[in-house]
Amino acid sequence: MFVVMSISPGMSFPSPPSPSSSSSSPLTSPPLPPPASLPLRTIPGSHGWPLIGPLSDRLDYFWFQGPETFFKKRIDKYKSTLFRTNVPPSFPFFWNVNPNVVTVLDCKSFSHLFDMDLVEKKNVLVGDFMPSVKFTGDIRVGAYLDTAEPQHSKVKNFAMEILKKSSKLWVPELLTDLSTMWDTIETELSKNSSASYLIPLQQFIFSFLTKCLVGADPSTSPEIANSGYAMLDRWLALQLLPTVKIGILQPLEEIFLHSFAYPFFLVSGDYRKLYKFVKQNGKEVLEIGKYEFGLSEEESIHNLLFVLGFNAFGGFSVFLPSLISTIASDTTGLQQRIVKEVRSKGGSTLSFDSVKEMELVQSVVYETLRLNPPVPLQYARARKDFQISTHDSVHDIKKGELLCGYQPLVMKDPKIFDEPDSFKPDRFKDNKELLSYLYWSNGPQTGSPTASNKQCAAKDYVTLTACLFVAYLFRRYDSITGSSTSITAVEKAE
Ligand code: HEM
Repeated sequence: MFVVMSISPGMSFPSPPSPSSSSSSPLTSPPLPPPASLPLRTIPGSHGWPLIGPLSDRLDYFWFQGPETFFKKRIDKYKSTLFRTNVPPSFPFFWNVNPNVVTVLDCKSFSHLFDMDLVEKKNVLVGDFMPSVKFTGDIRVGAYLDTAEPQHSKVKNFAMEILKKSSKLWVPELLTDLSTMWDTIETELSKNSSASYLIPLQQFIFSFLTKCLVGADPSTSPEIANSGYAMLDRWLALQLLPTVKIGILQPLEEIFLHSFAYPFFLVSGDYRKLYKFVKQNGKEVLEIGKYEFGLSEEESIHNLLFVLGFNAFGGFSVFLPSLISTIASDTTGLQQRIVKEVRSKGGSTLSFDSVKEMELVQSVVYETLRLNPPVPLQYARARKDFQISTHDSVHDIKKGELLCGYQPLVMKDPKIFDEPDSFKPDRFKDNKELLSYLYWSNGPQTGSPTASNKQCAAKDYVTLTACLFVAYLFRRYDSITGSSTSITAVEKAE
């Protein structure tokens, strides 16, 4: 078991080196015409009449069109990837939320969201709407802090230090918990024709991340071991419901899920239990927060719970099902090619280094992140007046305007990605320069998270973990069949 407690503050372990592919000469900006050579255009679109405009856009977004069609239809209407519109939540009980945004829906305009001289990220994690700080112990945790706020550096460096400290144990803990997860799925498959993997998967994600990030084994508390993952699900759901399309019968979804923010007290008992668990069992990590980064115990625990529950558990809970589904439903012979690669490369014991030899596996992981970015929406507010460019025009942005990027469309930018709608498993293997345009982490895959940007602290850990997940799977099985929720067959390796 991973024991952060045995690591003295100040000792550092190497973080996993970046995937081999990202060391190829990175492009930091698209090789496209400079702004000066593009025509200046007024931003098309409008926010509509007060109340009516936002309400009508909200109904289109959640009900009549759905997010992807919502943005696509407006690109067609305005003949532009940059336009004014409204994004929910809005009217009636979100009176203090301003739904007006300027969209950035191509790779070039979206990349302005990463320039911290031009934009700020204060309180805009999920748009102008911010879930109550009661969900995070009455403090604004790191994800809501702008880089200009000194607390952001402390919290971001704290998160990166925890990752660094855990890097030695990350792979063994991952493999142990993966083995438990697939044993559970196999047992279920021996009794039924199909095994839903969502609960075993979430238990696996929760257990391995808690051991790595908090330095505490959930199995020391039966309640946390059994229900920790469900506690985080409920806590996440209450914060995000006003912003997410669920797909249940309308107008019920609009009336009950998108019209008001749910109060924290519904999950306060769960949160208190998780808080107590971290306070009692994560002492070594809390000391790092205190002595290395000057964080109070409360600040460390709330930030740790947010990183664990929102960033890490939330992110992997969306990403891994899409990865399993992509691979399990493939009919083109991809699984056999992966089997060949993971058994011929990387040595006998899996590690961060061994998966870096597996170029096809890496490319499949990147392509899955391109087509299914787990965090679809990203926001940033103009720090000052500036000019923003799309591929074919330049526009004036005023200080204070909120920019909104919808990654599922940005990642299908036809000027960057050939056959953008197709899943091409070798895309990033054959053209590593494309990694400069892979933005799932709120920054290019060739970039590095630092205290002065807002890129995901675990950018490399996430992709390497996904590669290890795939490598483990196809060292254990010759093939798997299934979907984004269940496995229907597995063929064990000889
Ligand atoms: C599949 C898993 C993950 C996904 C998809 C993901 C995605 C993201 C994204 C998109 C952001 C930027 C949000 C924004 O400001 O717009 C972010 C930020 C962040 N992520 Fe991740 N993440 C994942 C896993 C993790 C893990 C395992 C950690 C563990 C340390 C982590 C730590 C963070 C932190 C601390 C930030 C805030 C960065 C800052 O404030 O500068 N993430 N993540």
